[in-house]
Amino acid sequence: MDFYIILMTVIGVLLLIKLISRERKKVPPNPPGIPLLGNINTLRPETMLSTMRKLHKQYGDLFSINIINQHLIFVGGYKTTYELLVKKADVLGDKPYFFTQELLRNAGVFSTSGPLWKEHRTFCLISLRSLGFGKRNIQTRIIEEIEYFLAEVENHHGDPFDIQDLVSKSIANVISALVFGKRFELSDPTSAEMCNILNAFFRSTIFHSPIYIFPFLKHLPGDLFGSKKLIQKFDRIFDIMCKILDEHRSTFDENNIRDFIDCYLKEQKKKNEAYKEHTFSDKQLISTLIEFFSAGLETTSTAIKWGILYLMHNQEIQKRMRKEIENTVVSGRLPTLEDKPKLPYCQAVCFEVLRLGNVTPTTAPHALKHDVTLNGFVIPKEATLFIDLDSINMDPEMFPDPFSFNPERFLSQDGKVTGTEKIGAFSMGRRVCMGESLAKMELFLFMTSLIQRFEIHNEAGKPLPSLEGTLGFTYTPQSLAASYKKIY
Ligand code: HEM
Repeated sequence: MDFYIILMTVIGVLLLIKLISRERKKVPPNPPGIPLLGNINTLRPETMLSTMRKLHKQYGDLFSINIINQHLIFVGGYKTTYELLVKKADVLGDKPYFFTQELLRNAGVFSTSGPLWKEHRTFCLISLRSLGFGKRNIQTRIIEEIEYFLAEVENHHGDPFDIQDLVSKSIANVISALVFGKRFELSDPTSAEMCNILNAFFRSTIFHSPIYIFPFLKHLPGDLFGSKKLIQKFDRIFDIMCKILDEHRSTFDENNIRDFIDCYLKEQKKKNEAYKEHTFSDKQLISTLIEFFSAGLETTSTAIKWGILYLMHNQEIQKRMRKEIENTVVSGRLPTLEDKPKLPYCQAVCFEVLRLGNVTPTTAPHALKHDVTLNGFVIPKEATLFIDLDSINMDPEMFPDPFSFNPERFLSQDGKVTGTEKIGAFSMGRRVCMGESLAKMELFLFMTSLIQRFEIHNEAGKPLPSLEGTLGFTYTPQSLAASYKKIY
């Protein structure tokens, strides 16, 4: 009881400080809220997306949600976001407190900021590029994985099944190949365990949830927000990664760099020899590995799942893709990136999946280095900033009739792919997604290969699965039961 009295007193004092000392700045508008607690009622995962859409419609590209003494400011719309993230980029790059930092033990790239983030983001990009990330040779690994994936689909002999687990395991294997230098068998229990934990994590809550913003909530007795359970699950992922790292270290040869872990161990050795202190620690490596897995696995596999769902709903689009593939790719081999220029319609479908699939409706929270003025409003330094990527993807000025699945919006009159840079899926500016090129490659290769070999239909006699998704950190389809009829 005493605890709750103290808690309410702290909240009251914070509010008072806010009322007395806050400069009267013209901050982006917020909806009316509950005394003391503000707009806490808006932060329910089930309604968060519709709330954001409502507030964006009501207030425009900038609005806020106020909780206790904290401004959560949402910036959206293509032009306004570009103005902030690209033209005023100097003010960005930092992260405020958010609970993911604790899960990742304040290390890695995604949840860190300052010189540590800058040094490691640069290192990761250079290393991944040297391993073929964003280049053609990673394609060989993706296509190898697609062959296993298609064989598994074929094993169902056209009987309906939910493909979601299979997609997740296949995408996990692409990342594994890149960072660990090996793939897991699709039936491997360790891979299944990691996929399940990360899957549950991504679906468990939203970045705007109070537990992600207010550090003191994790000290509440019990586990109202599930934070203690989540920390335990992440401890398990750390254990798995530590084991993989130990195995790697025992076979490390700096003249034969096999994967990202080896790149890191080589850099660590170089730094150990040159400096007494540096940031290339094992902890930093393990957190980065977990980030690659979580950022790369759930997002890309969810995009592929949306792709399958939209094609199930749009048989004509499926047929047109297949015809384009048949006219371009010699039967018997899978589509490759070299075929891409001759498959503009298939490319347009993938871009439309990235836009309407809306896998990441907002970014994780960002912090500002100082106050910034945007569209006549002030975003105060202390605010927690989210980029409303949903409003970019659904911006009717950029994408007329935004809620319809229409790949042709990305084709010019002479059939060339156009206008794709306006999609918000990967954000923009300093914190733009590090895996964008890999994700686009995976989406293109998985979708075209699947459509080349199989017709996707919904379960006979059942209604089509819903196009409404569920919001966690990612926006995911609810169910994906379908049958896959082999073509040849
Ligand atoms: C369809 C697939 C993907 C989508 C929609 C996506 C989306 C995003 C978005 C919106 C951000 C910015 C988050 C922010 O501003 O807070 C981001 C960051 C990031 N993404 Fe992706 N992502 C995808 C795939 C990948 C892949 C395949 C990887 C790596 C293997 C990856 C690694 C990262 C990392 C490490 C960051 C943090 C960058 C930083 O903070 O500097 N992502 N992603």
